Amino acid sequence: MIFKFQFGKPFPTEAVVAKDQIQDAPGQPVPFVDVKEGESITYQMQPDDLVYGLGQNVRGINKRGWIYSSNCSDNPNHQEDTRSLYAAHNFLMIDGAKKFAMFLDYPGIVTFDIGYTRSDELKITLSDWNLDLYIWEGESMTELVKAFRHMIGRSYIAPKWAFGYGQSRWGYQTAEDVRRVVQKHKENDLPLDSVYMDIDYMERYKDFTINEERFPNFEAFNEEMKAQQIHLVPIIDAGVKKEEGYPVYEEGVEKGYFCKKEDGSNFVAAVWPGHSMFTDFLNPEARKWFGDHYAFLLDKGVEGFWNDMNEPSIFYTEDRIRDVIDEISKLKGKNLDLTELWKMLGLVNGMANNVEDYKTFFHETEVGRLSHEKVHNLFGYNMTRAAGEAFERLCPEKRILMFSRSSYIGMHRYGGIWQGDNKSWWSHLLMNIKMCPSLNMCGILYTGADLGGFGSNATEDLLLRWLQFGVFTPLMRNHSAIGTREQEIYQFQDIGAFRNILKFRYRLLPYLYSEYMKAVLKEELYFSPLAFMYPEDAFASQVEDQLFVGESLMVAPVYEQNARGRYVYLPEEMRMFRLKRDGSLESEVLDAGHHYVKAELEEMVFFLRKGHALVLAEAANRVADVDFGHLQALTFGDEAVEYEYYHDDGYTKDYENPKNWSRLEISGDGEISC
Ligand code: GLC
Repeated sequence: MIFKFQFGKPFPTEAVVAKDQIQDAPGQPVPFVDVKEGESITYQMQPDDLVYGLGQNVRGINKRGWIYSSNCSDNPNHQEDTRSLYAAHNFLMIDGAKKFAMFLDYPGIVTFDIGYTRSDELKITLSDWNLDLYIWEGESMTELVKAFRHMIGRSYIAPKWAFGYGQSRWGYQTAEDVRRVVQKHKENDLPLDSVYMDIDYMERYKDFTINEERFPNFEAFNEEMKAQQIHLVPIIDAGVKKEEGYPVYEEGVEKGYFCKKEDGSNFVAAVWPGHSMFTDFLNPEARKWFGDHYAFLLDKGVEGFWNDMNEPSIFYTEDRIRDVIDEISKLKGKNLDLTELWKMLGLVNGMANNVEDYKTFFHETEVGRLSHEKVHNLFGYNMTRAAGEAFERLCPEKRILMFSRSSYIGMHRYGGIWQGDNKSWWSHLLMNIKMCPSLNMCGILYTGADLGGFGSNATEDLLLRWLQFGVFTPLMRNHSAIGTREQEIYQFQDIGAFRNILKFRYRLLPYLYSEYMKAVLKEELYFSPLAFMYPEDAFASQVEDQLFVGESLMVAPVYEQNARGRYVYLPEEMRMFRLKRDGSLESEVLDAGHHYVKAELEEMVFFLRKGHALVLAEAANRVADVDFGHLQALTFGDEAVEYEYYHDDGYTKDYENPKNWSRLEISGDGEISC
């Protein structure tokens, strides 16, 4: 049973949808934690307590030892000391003598001090006390997650083609650029299912427009791509350009769908298009209106989108620029001391995404007018909800790819996320690995990072190692920023090594897709920490750079430059496979315990559990060409095993159909029968 406590007047975020296991507990004492209303929620941590959850955040799977803040932020320079990334995922679990979970359904800023100020104390503070607090206990982390996932509803299901490889770059300016990407993949026999279109496809960064010069006759172009089984995936930004004559702007103003300032005038702030408007996504009518605009591209045959800048990202407001200029002009002609110099730099750097700006605009919600500051963390969620709800209305039969940059719990029902603007750093590859299971705990299953890194320059070895992990992430997309080194696979020397890894992704698809769908439909994890699989094994909780992918497979990616292998911990005896550069698989059985495992740059190792199977297809260059009906299996041990295989058409939404499920009987030598 999940206990629900209400404080003040919580905003109805609609994060929670299934109430059957929830019991209102007004007036009763909150179990496990010490609540001082208006001040804090604290928990005295025991030395061995582990803390899990918090979705998209820096640092470990065990969140203990840092201070995190839920305050959706556009931060392309995030590092180990960052407190807030793009999302607000206020779910956490304590694993110790007491095992319990908490969800703070609250859209303002929440701070989780998990042993940062005092190493033995977990202290949660909020910017005000209007929240629903859900708290429950369980026997295991898996059970706690399952209860949470049940209450927040089914995770988003992507179309099957979106499990193929995607190539993206902020910098493809024209249809010719896109054609070249497709052509280069073809020439080099590299699998590819999608090419992403960044802001340059639009006419001066205006949502729901196409630059006719750069992308003439877009519909025919999309057809041309589809004929090659390539999906074009355009970006949609949160800010709507303020420009007379631009219908989206004019209609939004006329209908009053943009956020307004206190005096009733429209709130304007700068993003890519310059001065922009922000749709009031908390107003259901405005949400519907924005969502309906996706039809502009759906009607042209587009089947996938990514929603960006929806924290929302604000480069500056006119008011802030004026204040900053006023302040700085006071320093004119002065001999600046250090304090003044820092103040000046701080003013300039603080212009973007300034929390003070959030106080100056408002939302018309079902419970009245609210300042953005109070509901900040719901903006990206509701932009993606606008899209998701529109897809249900406009093309109810079909799955549309959708992933967002910003999110809150609840958004996981409408789309996945990518992990924001990372860098071409080895440390960000490791961060990607650690973030995946935490996101899964929060219901976000369709996810992946910008492979190779978005900012800064990628090296060949980094991209190769990153792809070796990316092979297992549902979203497998290589994306980079304008001005950085071009990092499409064909830009590098050893294309054969990349080809081998990519082709293996396509071979793995029957397993990866089946495990993904099982995780969604059964409210389980796709990526699990070792600690969740082996709760009795004290050492397993120490291992954060290895993960389980579904039920059978453990991965131990190499994430250090020049490493030709790594240490791996096996909680039980496993069969290790090494994918060689010629595509063949070599295997050996390893005992439980610690091993140094060799993995040359172009090799990838993975581990199979006893009594489990890994189903594989033949390699293909498009998801549509993968034969999900003719499988091979890798097994470990002489005894026959059973594998529960989920397989559907990948396009429609007939998920519950029993025909999608089969029990494969697999003999010790890998023979499959149904
Ligand atoms: C943001 C996005 C990034 C995109 C860029 C330009 O930084 O996070 O993915 O390439 O904007 O649209």
